[in-house]
Amino acid sequence: MEILSCNTSNFLLLPIFLLFLLLLAFFCSPFTTEDNSISSLFSPLSAPLSHYQLGGDHINHTSSSTPPPVSLDRFYNSTTMFVSSKHKATNIKKKSSVDKIEEDLARARAAIGKAIRSKNYVSEKEETFIPKGSIYRNSYAFHQSHLEMMKGFKIWIYKEGEQPIIHSGPLNNIYAIEGQFIDEMESKNNPFKANHPDEAHAFFLPFSVANVIHYVYQPPITTVKEYSRERLKRLLVDYITVVARKYPYWNRSNGSDHFMVSCHDWAPEVSIDDPELFNNFMRVLCNANISEGFQPKRDVSMPEVYLPFGRLGPPRMGREPNSRPIMAFFAGRAHGYIRKLLFNHWKGRDNEVQVYEKLPAGQNYTALMGRSRFCLCPSGFEVASPREVEAIYAGCVPVIISDNYSLPFGDVLDWSQFSIHIPSEKIPEIKTILQGVSKNKYLKMHERVRRVHRHFVLNRPAKPFDVIHMVLHSVWLRRLNFRLPAS
Ligand SMILES: *[C@@H]1O[C@H](CO)[C@@H](O)[C@H](O)[C@H]1NC(C)=O
Ligand SMILES: *[C@@H]1O[C@H](CO)[C@@H](O)[C@H](O)[C@H]1NC(C)=O
Ligand SMILES: *[C@@H]1O[C@H](CO)[C@@H](O)[C@H](O)[C@H]1NC(C)=O
Ligand SMILES: *[C@@H]1O[C@H](CO)[C@@H](O)[C@H](O)[C@H]1NC(C)=O
Ligand SMILES: *[C@@H]1O[C@H](CO)[C@@H](O)[C@H](O)[C@H]1NC(C)=O
Ligand SMILES: *[C@@H]1O[C@H](CO)[C@@H](O)[C@H](O)[C@H]1NC(C)=O
Ligand SMILES: *[C@@H]1O[C@H](CO)[C@@H](O)[C@H](O)[C@H]1NC(C)=O
Repeated sequence: MEILSCNTSNFLLLPIFLLFLLLLAFFCSPFTTEDNSISSLFSPLSAPLSHYQLGGDHINHTSSSTPPPVSLDRFYNSTTMFVSSKHKATNIKKKSSVDKIEEDLARARAAIGKAIRSKNYVSEKEETFIPKGSIYRNSYAFHQSHLEMMKGFKIWIYKEGEQPIIHSGPLNNIYAIEGQFIDEMESKNNPFKANHPDEAHAFFLPFSVANVIHYVYQPPITTVKEYSRERLKRLLVDYITVVARKYPYWNRSNGSDHFMVSCHDWAPEVSIDDPELFNNFMRVLCNANISEGFQPKRDVSMPEVYLPFGRLGPPRMGREPNSRPIMAFFAGRAHGYIRKLLFNHWKGRDNEVQVYEKLPAGQNYTALMGRSRFCLCPSGFEVASPREVEAIYAGCVPVIISDNYSLPFGDVLDWSQFSIHIPSEKIPEIKTILQGVSKNKYLKMHERVRRVHRHFVLNRPAKPFDVIHMVLHSVWLRRLNFRLPAS
């Protein structure tokens, strides 16, 4: 267990207050037009944006010239990988930075292709952990891809903007992974940080949706209108507009090598109004609801990790499979339609499928998970829930009760090997489905939950194969799937 040393609250008070005044000034006049100081929020050092217009003048995209995304499945299965763009031997011109980064990526693709064919890995150093077994879709591809990422993935973190809504996010509670990821990226010793944007394979927008909502949507909010997502959307579009004007990188790829990370429920809505601007932009989201525009090939599903205040969640593995007397367990509030269905069928009705809206006094939530064979993880107000990770920490086989949820790291991990998925319409059959899992199959799944555990542990600083590296790897994989046009 590690103690977090990220207490920034005192140090942040003044900037927060100044920002608040700025925002107040800005949002009091929603139709502010040219030369408004919103640009100063994001680019305090830049020249004023003279032809700046709110809501208009977006970068225009046509996806036709963007290379079609290569399916990750095909990527892993293929034995013939991309051929890197040919450079003539006689080319004596200095290599452009685009050529250089595309060469890095071509080398990584070739190494992954070789690992898939040879069913082995190549590394310059001794490996202490080798991914193996059925929890991976292709353990060789994943292992080599992770090694290649560690060797040289470089990310430029845009410096524009001010805390707290840029460059910081919540470090605790249910959206913790958003702030922890931003904080990790911004930390001095982050080995993935590019020193110059020209050497970056990917570009991170350290924009915190959760902090926008926390600081910009400050109570008292009294009307539905005040909850309107307009301000949130506009802030992100403004941020992108600023960096796309100031630097060549966004336009060069139409955003394909740019990403943001958010665990907040509202995050998917940021891109709804402007599908063209966001057509290629990678959104790393907890709320990976396919019915809300989440695209598994472009976007990344990130797990929700509940962190108690002041520390990283201590992973607890719970009991051995033979001393887990409870068949299935859930406790939580009646958020969303899936939980309502769950409560209608199971709340207080069955000794083996124990479903609580409120735990009886004296009962310990974590201990109960550690004594259960299966832990129910129903969607709440959004598809993701911290329960998948809590179940994995507790050594309890997750039962994911969801519709249209794209599971975290699903392009690397084969969730069917260590969890059970039950769509909402089968909620009445939960008990029958779980009874149908043989003892032998259960023991295997339990063992796989223990093995997949390391990919959901949060370390600061991040460590190879942990949850932060899994998020980075998902971005890396998507970056491997396209090429920038040669310069
Ligand atoms: C990128 O494209 C936008 C929209 O076409 C344009 O306003 C901006 O100046 C471009 N950025 C650069 C650095 O040329
Ligand atoms: C933007 O793209 C659309 C097609 O997607 C096109 O109809 C429109 O004319 C373009 N606008 C500009 C300013 O290029
Ligand atoms: C980005 O979009 C513009 C027009 O919208 C297009 O001309 C350009 O080729 C695109 N670039 C890439 C890398 O797809
Ligand atoms: C990739 O391989 C897996 C297992 O080997 C197979 O189930 C899947 O259908 C393959 N996908 C493609 C697109 O070939
Ligand atoms: C609940 O159980 C966990 C795991 O057994 C233990 O670490 C924790 O201290 C318990 N909490 C309380 C409040 O008893
Ligand atoms: C997923 O999105 C759809 C479409 O917006 C919505 O109806 C559904 O309730 C969402 N799922 C959850 C669990 O919120
Ligand atoms: C979402 O889930 C429902 C229920 O399982 C299903 O009927 C529907 O087709 C799914 N929608 C999408 C977009 O996957």
